[in-house]
Amino acid sequence: MKRTKSLQKTLGVGLTLGVALLWVLALVVAVTVLRDRMNEMFDSALAETAQRIMPLAVVEIINSEPPGQLQNIMPFAAHDEYFIYLVRDNSGAVLLKSHNADPAVFKPDFQTGFSSSASHRFYGASAVQDTLHIQVAEPLSQRQEALREMVFTLVWPLAILIPLCFFGTWVFVRYSLRHVLAFSEAIKSRDGGDLSPIQNHNLPAEVNTIAESLNDLLQRLRRAMELEHAFTANSAHELRTPIATALAQIQRLQQTLPAGSSQEQASKIETSIRKLSRLSEKLMQLAKAEGGRLLSSERHDLISLLRLIVEEFRRSYANAVIHLNVPDNESFMSNLDADAFAILVQNLLDNAIKHGHEGKPIEIQFSAQGTLRIINHADVIPAEKLTQLHRRFVRSNSQAEGSGLGLAIADAIVSGVGATMTIHSPAVNRIDGFEVRINFSGI
Ligand SMILES: Nc1ncnc2c1ncn2[C@@H]1O[C@H](COP(=O)(O)OP(=O)(O)OP(=O)(O)O)[C@@H](O)[C@H]1O
Ligand SMILES: [Mg+2]
Repeated sequence: MKRTKSLQKTLGVGLTLGVALLWVLALVVAVTVLRDRMNEMFDSALAETAQRIMPLAVVEIINSEPPGQLQNIMPFAAHDEYFIYLVRDNSGAVLLKSHNADPAVFKPDFQTGFSSSASHRFYGASAVQDTLHIQVAEPLSQRQEALREMVFTLVWPLAILIPLCFFGTWVFVRYSLRHVLAFSEAIKSRDGGDLSPIQNHNLPAEVNTIAESLNDLLQRLRRAMELEHAFTANSAHELRTPIATALAQIQRLQQTLPAGSSQEQASKIETSIRKLSRLSEKLMQLAKAEGGRLLSSERHDLISLLRLIVEEFRRSYANAVIHLNVPDNESFMSNLDADAFAILVQNLLDNAIKHGHEGKPIEIQFSAQGTLRIINHADVIPAEKLTQLHRRFVRSNSQAEGSGLGLAIADAIVSGVGATMTIHSPAVNRIDGFEVRINFSGI
Protein backbone atom coordinates (compact mmCIF):
# COMPACT_ATOMS: atom_id res chain seq x y z
CA MET A 1 0.00 0.00 0.00
CA LYS A 2 1.26 3.48 -0.86
CA ARG A 3 2.20 5.42 2.28
CA THR A 4 0.17 8.58 2.72
CA LYS A 5 1.97 11.81 3.59
CA SER A 6 1.12 13.68 6.77
CA LEU A 7 -0.29 17.14 6.01
CA GLN A 8 1.13 18.35 9.33
CA LYS A 9 4.64 17.23 8.38
CA THR A 10 4.43 18.56 4.82
CA LEU A 11 3.25 21.98 6.01
CA GLY A 12 5.81 22.04 8.84
CA VAL A 13 8.73 21.29 6.53
CA GLY A 14 7.41 23.45 3.64
CA LEU A 15 6.73 26.56 5.71
CA THR A 16 10.01 26.25 7.62
CA LEU A 17 11.98 25.93 4.38
CA GLY A 18 10.05 28.87 2.91
CA VAL A 19 10.75 31.11 5.92
CA ALA A 20 14.43 30.10 5.99
CA LEU A 21 14.78 30.77 2.27
CA LEU A 22 13.12 34.18 2.52
CA TRP A 23 15.32 35.04 5.50
CA VAL A 24 18.49 34.12 3.56
CA LEU A 25 17.28 36.13 0.54
CA ALA A 26 16.56 39.17 2.74
CA LEU A 27 19.96 38.70 4.36
CA VAL A 28 21.79 38.70 1.01
CA VAL A 29 19.99 41.89 -0.09
CA ALA A 30 20.56 43.59 3.29
CA VAL A 31 24.27 42.67 3.37
CA THR A 32 24.81 43.93 -0.20
CA VAL A 33 23.12 47.28 0.50
CA LEU A 34 24.82 47.73 3.89
CA ARG A 35 28.25 46.81 2.50
CA ASP A 36 27.93 49.54 -0.15
CA ARG A 37 26.75 52.11 2.40
CA MET A 38 29.53 51.09 4.82
CA ASN A 39 32.18 51.44 2.09
CA GLU A 40 30.85 54.91 1.29
CA MET A 41 31.10 55.91 4.97
CA PHE A 42 34.60 54.45 5.42
CA ASP A 43 35.73 56.18 2.20
CA SER A 44 34.31 59.50 3.33
CA ALA A 45 36.13 59.19 6.69
CA LEU A 46 39.36 58.34 4.83
CA ALA A 47 39.09 61.39 2.55
CA GLU A 48 38.16 63.65 5.46
CA THR A 49 41.21 62.47 7.41
CA ALA A 50 43.54 63.10 4.45
CA GLN A 51 42.18 66.60 3.97
CA ARG A 52 42.53 67.43 7.69
CA ILE A 53 46.07 66.10 7.98
CA MET A 54 47.40 67.76 4.78
CA PRO A 55 47.56 71.45 6.03
CA LEU A 56 49.12 70.33 9.33
CA ALA A 57 51.66 68.20 7.48
CA VAL A 58 52.59 71.09 5.14
CA VAL A 59 53.28 73.38 8.14
CA GLU A 60 55.30 70.66 9.85
CA ILE A 61 57.41 70.00 6.73
CA ILE A 62 58.09 73.71 5.98
CA ASN A 63 59.19 74.34 9.61
CA SER A 64 61.44 71.30 9.74
CA GLU A 65 65.18 71.73 10.43
CA PRO A 66 66.95 70.99 8.17
CA PRO A 67 64.32 71.10 5.39
CA GLY A 68 63.67 67.81 3.61
CA GLN A 69 64.51 65.73 6.71
CA LEU A 70 62.08 62.74 7.38
CA GLN A 71 59.81 63.50 10.23
CA ASN A 72 58.19 60.77 12.25
CA ILE A 73 55.04 61.88 14.07
CA MET A 74 55.30 60.45 17.55
CA PRO A 75 52.12 59.26 19.27
CA PHE A 76 50.85 60.94 22.45
CA ALA A 77 50.13 57.54 23.93
CA ALA A 78 50.26 53.94 22.69
CA HIS A 79 47.25 53.23 20.47
CA ASP A 80 46.16 51.21 17.45
CA GLU A 81 46.13 53.22 14.29
CA TYR A 82 43.22 52.65 11.96
CA PHE A 83 44.66 55.15 9.52
CA ILE A 84 48.33 55.50 8.57
CA TYR A 85 49.68 58.22 6.34
CA LEU A 86 52.74 59.24 4.38
CA VAL A 87 53.74 62.61 2.85
CA ARG A 88 56.12 62.51 -0.09
CA ASP A 89 57.63 65.10 -2.45
CA ASN A 90 57.70 64.86 -6.25
CA SER A 91 60.83 62.70 -6.20
CA GLY A 92 59.02 60.17 -4.02
CA ALA A 93 61.12 60.93 -0.90
CA VAL A 94 59.16 60.44 2.30
CA LEU A 95 59.02 63.70 4.26
CA LEU A 96 56.54 62.83 6.99
CA LYS A 97 54.81 59.66 8.19
CA SER A 98 52.60 58.53 11.02
CA HIS A 99 54.40 56.68 13.78
CA ASN A 100 53.86 53.06 12.59
CA ALA A 101 53.33 53.66 8.87
CA ASP A 102 55.32 51.15 6.80
CA PRO A 103 56.24 52.83 3.44
CA ALA A 104 56.20 49.38 1.77
CA VAL A 105 52.39 49.28 2.28
CA PHE A 106 51.94 52.37 0.08
CA LYS A 107 51.96 52.30 -3.68
CA PRO A 108 55.26 53.71 -5.10
CA ASP A 109 53.48 55.84 -7.74
CA PHE A 110 51.21 58.55 -6.38
CA GLN A 111 47.51 58.56 -7.22
CA THR A 112 44.99 61.24 -6.25
CA GLY A 113 41.56 60.16 -4.99
CA PHE A 114 40.64 56.63 -3.97
CA SER A 115 42.52 53.47 -4.90
CA SER A 116 42.98 50.01 -3.40
CA SER A 117 45.64 47.31 -2.98
CA ALA A 118 45.09 43.75 -1.85
CA SER A 119 45.30 44.79 1.79
CA HIS A 120 44.57 48.55 2.00
CA ARG A 121 42.30 51.31 0.76
CA PHE A 122 44.06 54.61 -0.07
CA TYR A 123 43.15 58.23 -0.52
CA GLY A 124 45.69 60.58 -2.10
CA ALA A 125 45.75 64.40 -2.18
CA SER A 126 48.38 67.02 -3.26
CA ALA A 127 49.23 70.50 -1.98
CA VAL A 128 51.69 73.40 -2.46
CA GLN A 129 51.28 73.41 -6.26
CA ASP A 130 51.47 69.65 -6.47
CA THR A 131 54.88 69.44 -4.79
CA LEU A 132 53.70 67.58 -1.65
CA HIS A 133 51.56 64.47 -1.80
CA ILE A 134 49.77 62.82 1.07
CA GLN A 135 48.43 59.27 1.03
CA VAL A 136 46.24 58.00 3.86
CA ALA A 137 45.77 54.22 4.06
CA GLU A 138 43.23 52.16 5.91
CA PRO A 139 43.60 48.37 6.27
CA LEU A 140 40.76 46.51 4.42
CA SER A 141 40.57 44.01 7.31
CA GLN A 142 38.58 46.69 9.23
CA ARG A 143 35.80 46.64 6.69
CA GLN A 144 35.89 42.85 6.34
CA GLU A 145 35.64 42.45 10.10
CA ALA A 146 32.63 44.82 10.24
CA LEU A 147 30.94 42.91 7.39
CA ARG A 148 31.57 39.54 9.08
CA GLU A 149 30.03 40.78 12.33
CA MET A 150 27.01 42.10 10.48
CA VAL A 151 26.44 38.79 8.61
CA PHE A 152 26.81 36.82 11.83
CA THR A 153 24.31 39.07 13.63
CA LEU A 154 21.79 38.49 10.87
CA VAL A 155 22.42 34.73 10.48
CA TRP A 156 22.35 33.44 14.05
CA PRO A 157 18.58 34.10 14.61
CA LEU A 158 18.02 31.44 11.91
CA ALA A 159 19.27 28.78 14.33
CA ILE A 160 16.35 29.70 16.63
CA LEU A 161 13.90 30.58 13.89
CA ILE A 162 14.04 27.21 12.05
CA PRO A 163 13.09 24.92 15.00
CA LEU A 164 10.66 27.55 16.31
CA CYS A 165 8.92 27.85 12.93
CA PHE A 166 8.76 24.05 12.51
CA PHE A 167 7.39 23.53 16.02
CA GLY A 168 4.95 26.46 15.69
CA THR A 169 3.59 25.19 12.37
CA TRP A 170 3.35 21.67 13.77
CA VAL A 171 1.32 22.79 16.77
CA PHE A 172 -0.83 25.22 14.81
CA VAL A 173 -1.66 22.73 12.05
CA ARG A 174 -2.47 20.06 14.63
CA TYR A 175 -4.73 22.51 16.44
CA SER A 176 -6.45 23.51 13.18
CA LEU A 177 -6.91 19.88 12.17
CA ARG A 178 -8.21 18.70 15.56
CA HIS A 179 -11.77 18.16 14.28
CA VAL A 180 -10.51 16.36 11.18
CA LEU A 181 -8.36 14.09 13.39
CA ALA A 182 -11.34 13.40 15.67
CA PHE A 183 -13.43 12.58 12.58
CA SER A 184 -10.81 10.18 11.24
CA GLU A 185 -10.47 8.59 14.71
CA ALA A 186 -14.27 8.08 14.79
CA ILE A 187 -14.10 6.27 11.43
CA LYS A 188 -11.12 4.15 12.50
CA SER A 189 -12.53 3.08 15.85
CA ARG A 190 -15.90 1.82 14.60
CA ASP A 191 -16.36 -1.84 13.70
CA GLY A 192 -17.40 -3.12 10.29
CA GLY A 193 -21.07 -3.51 11.18
CA ASP A 194 -21.59 0.05 12.43
CA LEU A 195 -23.15 2.06 9.60
CA SER A 196 -24.55 4.93 11.70
CA PRO A 197 -23.66 8.50 10.57
CA ILE A 198 -20.30 9.84 11.75
CA GLN A 199 -20.33 13.07 13.80
CA ASN A 200 -18.93 15.84 11.63
CA HIS A 201 -19.35 18.97 13.76
CA ASN A 202 -16.95 21.88 13.23
CA LEU A 203 -15.14 20.27 10.33
CA PRO A 204 -13.36 22.72 8.01
CA ALA A 205 -15.36 23.46 4.83
CA GLU A 206 -12.79 21.64 2.65
CA VAL A 207 -13.33 18.35 4.49
CA ASN A 208 -16.99 18.78 5.38
CA THR A 209 -18.12 17.92 1.84
CA ILE A 210 -16.25 14.61 2.05
CA ALA A 211 -17.80 13.89 5.47
CA GLU A 212 -21.31 14.65 4.17
CA SER A 213 -20.79 12.42 1.11
CA LEU A 214 -19.49 9.65 3.36
CA ASN A 215 -22.51 9.91 5.67
CA ASP A 216 -24.80 9.87 2.61
CA LEU A 217 -23.09 6.76 1.36
CA LEU A 218 -23.35 5.09 4.78
CA GLN A 219 -27.05 5.90 4.92
CA ARG A 220 -27.68 4.38 1.48
CA LEU A 221 -25.64 1.32 2.39
CA ARG A 222 -27.53 0.92 5.67
CA ARG A 223 -30.88 1.15 3.90
CA ALA A 224 -29.80 -1.40 1.26
CA MET A 225 -28.59 -3.82 3.93
CA GLU A 226 -31.72 -3.38 6.04
CA LEU A 227 -33.84 -4.13 2.97
CA GLU A 228 -31.79 -7.23 2.22
CA HIS A 229 -32.04 -8.50 5.83
CA ALA A 230 -35.74 -7.75 5.98
CA PHE A 231 -36.26 -9.59 2.70
CA THR A 232 -34.34 -12.68 3.90
CA ALA A 233 -36.08 -12.71 7.27
CA ASN A 234 -39.56 -12.15 5.79
CA SER A 235 -39.12 -14.74 3.07
CA ALA A 236 -37.89 -17.35 5.52
CA HIS A 237 -40.72 -16.49 7.91
CA GLU A 238 -43.35 -16.60 5.18
CA LEU A 239 -42.03 -19.99 4.04
CA ARG A 240 -42.40 -21.52 7.53
CA THR A 241 -46.20 -22.09 7.49
CA PRO A 242 -46.49 -23.50 3.94
CA ILE A 243 -43.50 -25.79 4.59
CA ALA A 244 -45.00 -27.03 7.87
CA THR A 245 -48.38 -27.56 6.15
CA ALA A 246 -46.77 -29.42 3.23
CA LEU A 247 -44.84 -31.64 5.67
CA ALA A 248 -47.98 -32.48 7.66
CA GLN A 249 -49.90 -33.28 4.47
CA ILE A 250 -47.21 -35.51 3.02
CA GLN A 251 -46.99 -37.42 6.33
CA ARG A 252 -50.76 -37.92 6.30
CA LEU A 253 -50.61 -39.01 2.65
CA GLN A 254 -47.85 -41.53 3.45
CA GLN A 255 -50.16 -43.26 5.92
CA THR A 256 -52.85 -43.75 3.29
CA LEU A 257 -50.51 -44.91 0.49
CA PRO A 258 -49.87 -48.62 -0.08
CA ALA A 259 -46.31 -49.84 0.48
CA GLY A 260 -44.25 -49.68 -2.70
CA SER A 261 -43.08 -47.07 -5.17
CA SER A 262 -45.68 -44.46 -4.17
CA GLN A 263 -44.53 -44.76 -0.53
CA GLU A 264 -40.90 -44.27 -1.64
CA GLN A 265 -41.79 -41.23 -3.71
CA ALA A 266 -43.74 -39.76 -0.80
CA SER A 267 -40.79 -40.25 1.56
CA LYS A 268 -38.42 -38.56 -0.99
CA ILE A 269 -40.82 -35.61 -1.06
CA GLU A 270 -40.78 -35.57 2.75
CA THR A 271 -36.94 -35.48 2.76
CA SER A 272 -36.93 -32.57 0.30
CA ILE A 273 -39.46 -30.66 2.39
CA ARG A 274 -37.34 -31.26 5.55
CA LYS A 275 -34.26 -29.89 3.70
CA LEU A 276 -36.29 -26.87 2.65
CA SER A 277 -37.39 -26.39 6.24
CA ARG A 278 -33.76 -26.54 7.52
CA LEU A 279 -32.70 -24.07 4.82
CA SER A 280 -35.41 -21.58 5.76
CA GLU A 281 -34.43 -21.98 9.43
CA LYS A 282 -30.76 -21.23 8.58
CA LEU A 283 -31.80 -18.22 6.47
CA MET A 284 -33.75 -16.86 9.45
CA GLN A 285 -30.66 -17.32 11.66
CA LEU A 286 -28.47 -15.60 9.06
CA ALA A 287 -30.89 -12.67 8.82
CA LYS A 288 -30.82 -12.30 12.62
CA ALA A 289 -27.02 -12.58 12.72
CA GLU A 290 -26.53 -9.96 10.02
CA GLY A 291 -29.32 -7.69 11.23
CA GLY A 292 -27.33 -6.43 14.24
CA ARG A 293 -28.78 -6.16 17.78
CA LEU A 294 -26.49 -8.98 18.89
CA LEU A 295 -25.58 -7.33 22.17
CA SER A 296 -28.03 -7.02 25.04
CA SER A 297 -28.00 -4.58 27.93
CA GLU A 298 -28.05 -7.50 30.42
CA ARG A 299 -24.97 -9.58 30.99
CA HIS A 300 -25.19 -13.37 30.73
CA ASP A 301 -22.88 -16.10 31.93
CA LEU A 302 -21.68 -17.73 28.70
CA ILE A 303 -20.36 -20.79 30.58
CA SER A 304 -23.83 -21.66 32.04
CA LEU A 305 -25.43 -21.09 28.62
CA LEU A 306 -22.81 -23.37 27.04
CA ARG A 307 -23.57 -26.10 29.62
CA LEU A 308 -27.32 -25.92 28.77
CA ILE A 309 -26.75 -26.07 25.02
CA VAL A 310 -24.36 -29.05 25.32
CA GLU A 311 -26.88 -30.88 27.56
CA GLU A 312 -29.55 -30.43 24.90
CA PHE A 313 -27.23 -31.78 22.19
CA ARG A 314 -26.32 -34.79 24.32
CA ARG A 315 -30.05 -35.55 24.66
CA SER A 316 -30.74 -35.09 20.93
CA TYR A 317 -27.64 -36.99 19.72
CA ALA A 318 -27.34 -39.91 22.11
CA ASN A 319 -24.54 -41.48 20.05
CA ALA A 320 -22.35 -38.38 20.05
CA VAL A 321 -19.45 -38.27 22.51
CA ILE A 322 -19.17 -34.70 23.71
CA HIS A 323 -16.49 -33.69 26.26
CA LEU A 324 -17.13 -30.36 27.89
CA ASN A 325 -14.22 -28.73 29.64
CA VAL A 326 -15.01 -25.46 31.45
CA PRO A 327 -13.40 -23.82 34.50
CA ASP A 328 -15.10 -25.00 37.73
CA ASN A 329 -17.10 -22.50 39.77
CA GLU A 330 -16.30 -19.75 37.33
CA SER A 331 -18.50 -17.65 35.16
CA PHE A 332 -17.79 -15.52 32.12
CA MET A 333 -20.20 -12.59 32.01
CA SER A 334 -20.83 -11.05 28.62
CA ASN A 335 -23.21 -8.65 26.85
CA LEU A 336 -23.58 -11.04 23.96
CA ASP A 337 -27.28 -11.74 23.35
CA ALA A 338 -28.20 -15.20 24.74
CA ASP A 339 -30.10 -16.20 21.57
CA ALA A 340 -27.19 -15.16 19.36
CA PHE A 341 -24.77 -17.20 21.52
CA ALA A 342 -27.10 -20.22 21.31
CA ILE A 343 -27.37 -19.95 17.49
CA LEU A 344 -23.58 -19.68 17.26
CA VAL A 345 -22.80 -22.70 19.42
CA GLN A 346 -25.61 -24.80 17.89
CA ASN A 347 -24.21 -24.26 14.39
CA LEU A 348 -20.68 -25.14 15.43
CA LEU A 349 -21.77 -28.23 17.40
CA ASP A 350 -24.06 -29.26 14.58
CA ASN A 351 -21.04 -29.10 12.26
CA ALA A 352 -18.84 -31.09 14.64
CA ILE A 353 -21.45 -33.86 14.87
CA LYS A 354 -22.39 -33.78 11.18
CA HIS A 355 -18.95 -33.45 9.58
CA GLY A 356 -16.76 -35.04 12.28
CA HIS A 357 -15.73 -38.73 12.23
CA GLU A 358 -18.56 -40.81 13.65
CA GLY A 359 -18.14 -42.13 17.18
CA LYS A 360 -15.04 -39.98 17.82
CA PRO A 361 -15.16 -37.54 20.76
CA ILE A 362 -15.89 -33.85 20.32
CA GLU A 363 -13.95 -31.53 22.64
CA ILE A 364 -15.53 -28.31 23.83
CA GLN A 365 -13.45 -25.95 25.96
CA PHE A 366 -14.18 -22.54 27.40
CA SER A 367 -11.24 -20.83 29.12
CA ALA A 368 -11.48 -18.33 31.98
CA GLN A 369 -10.14 -15.71 29.50
CA GLY A 370 -13.22 -16.20 27.31
CA THR A 371 -11.89 -18.43 24.51
CA LEU A 372 -14.26 -21.09 23.17
CA ARG A 373 -12.69 -24.03 21.32
CA ILE A 374 -14.69 -26.76 19.55
CA ILE A 375 -12.50 -29.58 18.24
CA ASN A 376 -13.57 -32.74 16.38
CA HIS A 377 -11.92 -35.51 14.40
CA ALA A 378 -12.23 -35.02 10.63
CA ASP A 379 -10.21 -35.24 7.43
CA VAL A 380 -7.88 -32.30 6.87
CA ILE A 381 -9.37 -29.56 4.69
CA PRO A 382 -6.94 -27.89 2.22
CA ALA A 383 -5.83 -24.44 3.37
CA GLU A 384 -7.20 -22.58 0.32
CA LYS A 385 -10.66 -24.12 0.90
CA LEU A 386 -10.48 -23.49 4.65
CA THR A 387 -10.18 -19.73 4.19
CA GLN A 388 -13.39 -19.69 2.11
CA LEU A 389 -15.60 -21.75 4.48
CA HIS A 390 -16.98 -18.74 6.38
CA ARG A 391 -18.64 -17.48 3.19
CA ARG A 392 -22.30 -18.20 2.46
CA PHE A 393 -23.07 -21.43 0.63
CA VAL A 394 -19.43 -22.56 0.60
CA ARG A 395 -18.89 -26.20 1.61
CA SER A 396 -15.96 -28.57 1.54
CA ASN A 397 -16.44 -32.04 0.06
CA SER A 398 -18.56 -33.25 2.98
CA GLN A 399 -20.98 -36.15 2.51
CA ALA A 400 -23.30 -34.72 5.16
CA GLU A 401 -26.34 -32.73 4.20
CA GLY A 402 -26.23 -28.98 4.51
CA SER A 403 -26.40 -25.74 2.61
CA GLY A 404 -23.10 -24.10 3.59
CA LEU A 405 -24.61 -21.47 5.90
CA GLY A 406 -23.55 -22.61 9.41
CA LEU A 407 -20.07 -21.01 9.43
CA ALA A 408 -21.40 -17.90 7.63
CA ILE A 409 -23.94 -17.46 10.47
CA ALA A 410 -21.19 -17.97 13.09
CA ASP A 411 -18.93 -15.47 11.30
CA ALA A 412 -21.72 -12.85 11.08
CA ILE A 413 -22.40 -13.14 14.84
CA VAL A 414 -18.73 -13.06 15.80
CA SER A 415 -17.83 -10.07 13.62
CA GLY A 416 -21.11 -8.33 14.52
CA VAL A 417 -20.10 -8.21 18.20
CA GLY A 418 -16.43 -7.50 17.56
CA ALA A 419 -15.13 -10.92 18.62
CA THR A 420 -12.63 -12.98 16.63
CA MET A 421 -13.04 -16.45 15.11
CA THR A 422 -10.29 -18.64 13.64
CA ILE A 423 -10.75 -21.96 11.87
CA HIS A 424 -7.99 -24.58 11.92
CA SER A 425 -7.63 -27.84 9.99
CA PRO A 426 -5.83 -29.89 11.16
CA ALA A 427 -6.80 -28.92 14.72
CA VAL A 428 -4.05 -27.16 16.70
CA ASN A 429 -1.34 -29.64 17.83
CA ARG A 430 -3.04 -32.53 15.99
CA ILE A 431 -2.40 -34.18 12.66
CA ASP A 432 -6.04 -34.19 11.60
CA GLY A 433 -9.38 -32.78 12.71
CA PHE A 434 -11.15 -29.44 12.67
CA GLU A 435 -11.06 -26.70 15.26
CA VAL A 436 -12.97 -23.45 15.67
CA ARG A 437 -11.71 -20.87 18.17
CA ILE A 438 -13.65 -17.82 19.24
CA ASN A 439 -12.38 -15.18 21.63
CA PHE A 440 -15.13 -13.34 23.54
CA SER A 441 -12.91 -11.27 25.80
CA GLY A 442 -14.02 -7.64 26.10
CA ILE A 443 -17.61 -8.25 24.95
N1 LIG B 1 -16.59 -29.29 12.52
C1 LIG B 1 -16.28 -29.55 11.26
N2 LIG B 1 -15.55 -30.64 10.89
C2 LIG B 1 -15.24 -30.86 9.62
N3 LIG B 1 -15.62 -30.10 8.58
C3 LIG B 1 -16.35 -29.01 8.87
C4 LIG B 1 -16.71 -28.67 10.21
N4 LIG B 1 -17.43 -27.52 10.20
C5 LIG B 1 -17.53 -27.18 8.91
N5 LIG B 1 -16.89 -28.02 8.13
C6 LIG B 1 -16.77 -27.93 6.66
O1 LIG B 1 -17.11 -26.61 6.31
C7 LIG B 1 -18.23 -26.60 5.43
C8 LIG B 1 -19.09 -25.40 5.67
O2 LIG B 1 -19.75 -25.52 6.94
P1 LIG B 1 -21.11 -24.80 7.14
O3 LIG B 1 -21.53 -25.01 8.54
O4 LIG B 1 -20.98 -23.42 6.68
O5 LIG B 1 -22.06 -25.51 6.14
P2 LIG B 1 -22.74 -26.93 6.26
O6 LIG B 1 -22.56 -27.45 7.63
O7 LIG B 1 -22.23 -27.76 5.18
O8 LIG B 1 -24.24 -26.56 5.99
P3 LIG B 1 -25.27 -25.90 7.00
O9 LIG B 1 -24.50 -25.46 8.16
O10 LIG B 1 -25.90 -24.83 6.24
O11 LIG B 1 -26.24 -27.01 7.35
C9 LIG B 1 -18.91 -27.90 5.65
O12 LIG B 1 -19.59 -28.29 4.50
C10 LIG B 1 -17.76 -28.82 5.98
O13 LIG B 1 -17.15 -29.31 4.80
MG1 LIG C 1 -23.07 -26.33 9.26
